[in-house]
Amino acid sequence: MTASGLRAGGEHIRVERNLGVPARCRRIAAWGRRLMGGVEHAKHVPVMVQEVLEYLRPKPGGLYVDATLGAGGHAERILGAAPGSRLIGIDCDAEAIDAARARLRVYGERACLLQRRHEELAALLTELGVTSVDGLLFDLGVSSLQLEAAGRGFSFLRDGPLDMRFDARQELTAAQLLATATVEELTRLLRVHGEERWAARIAKAVVQRRGARPLRRTGELAALVGSVVPRRFQSLRRHHVATQTFQALRVAVNRELCGLAATLRAACRVLGPQGRLCVISFHSGEDRIVKEVLRELARGCVCPPRQPVCTCGGKPLITLLTRRPRRPSAGEVAANPRARSARLRAAERLAT
Ligand SMILES: C[S@@+](CC[C@H](N)C(=O)[O-])C[C@H]1O[C@@H](n2cnc3c(N)ncnc32)[C@H](O)[C@@H]1O
Repeated sequence: MTASGLRAGGEHIRVERNLGVPARCRRIAAWGRRLMGGVEHAKHVPVMVQEVLEYLRPKPGGLYVDATLGAGGHAERILGAAPGSRLIGIDCDAEAIDAARARLRVYGERACLLQRRHEELAALLTELGVTSVDGLLFDLGVSSLQLEAAGRGFSFLRDGPLDMRFDARQELTAAQLLATATVEELTRLLRVHGEERWAARIAKAVVQRRGARPLRRTGELAALVGSVVPRRFQSLRRHHVATQTFQALRVAVNRELCGLAATLRAACRVLGPQGRLCVISFHSGEDRIVKEVLRELARGCVCPPRQPVCTCGGKPLITLLTRRPRRPSAGEVAANPRARSARLRAAERLAT
C-alpha cells in the first residue's frame, strides 16, 4: 500500500474533527498544509550528513533504506551521492512522507516511500521482495517539520493541542495520556524518557490540575511545569524548563523505544556483506539501546562474561565502526543547534 493510499483514509480530517474545527476551516487548513509542503521541508536541516555519507559510503546501483525518512534530507544526499542507487524510505508520519515525496521527486522511481513504522522493517522488505540491502539509516526522534507545526503539539514554544502523534491514525494523544495515567505512571515516564529530576512533582501537579480541568494545550502544560519546578533550578538549566517533560511525553505517545532493539537487530540481519548501518540518536535512553544492541551483535556470544568457554555458539554479525559515538562538529552545532545532542554510531555487516 502506498503512503498516499494510506492518507486517503482521512487521518488528517480525524485530527481536526477532534478539535471541533468546522469542515470549511479543515479544508482550508489542508490546502495550507499542501501549499506549505515545499517550504516546510526546507526547514529540517539533516544532522551529521557528512558523517552519514562517510559511513554509509553509498555506491552506484546500491540499495539503501532510510528508516526514519522525515523530510527526506538524508535520503536526498544518499541518492545524490551514488548514481543509479535506490532508496526505500519509511516514516510513520504521512506529512513527512508528503514532504519527502516533494523533495525526492527528481529521483523518480529510485525512491520508494512508504508510511510504515520501522518496527515493521523485516516484514516490509519481505513484502517488497528485498533480501538484502547495502545500507540502512536511522535518524531517530522528531523532525523540525513536526516540532515547528504548532497544530501537532510537539513544542512548548508554540501553543497548540497536546497531540504529539507522529502517526495521526493512532488513537492515543499526549492529552489522553495526561488525562488517564496515574501519578506513578507519569512519574516513571518522566524519569525514564525525560530524565526529569522533578518528575514526581510534575506528575502530582498534572493529576491535581486535571481534577479541575483537563490539560489540552501545550501552553498549559509548559506553564504548569514552570510553576512546579523551583525557580532557582530553572535558571540553572541550559534549556526550557518543560523540555524534558515534552520529550518524555512524545517518546511515550509514539512508543519510540518499545521496538527499537528488535528493529536494530532485524536491520543488521538484512544488511548484505559489508553493508553498513548508521544510527543517530538524540537522548541517552535511545543511545543506550543502540550501543547495547550493536555491542551484542558485534560480540556474537551471549554466554555469561565469567563463563570460561563459549557454549552458545553465537558468532559476531557485525563489526563496530564507532567505538564511541561520533558527535557533530562545533561548526555544525553553531549552524544547526538541533544537532547539539546528536550521537552517531555505525557498524558494518561481516562477510560471513
Ligand atoms: C529526525 S526525523 C528524520 C529526519 C530526516 N533524516 C531528514 O533528514 O529529513 C525522524 C523521523 O522519524 C520518524 N519516526 C519516528 N519513529 C518512527 C517509527 N517507529 N517508524 C517510522 N518512522 C518513525 C518521525 O516521524 C520523523 O519524521
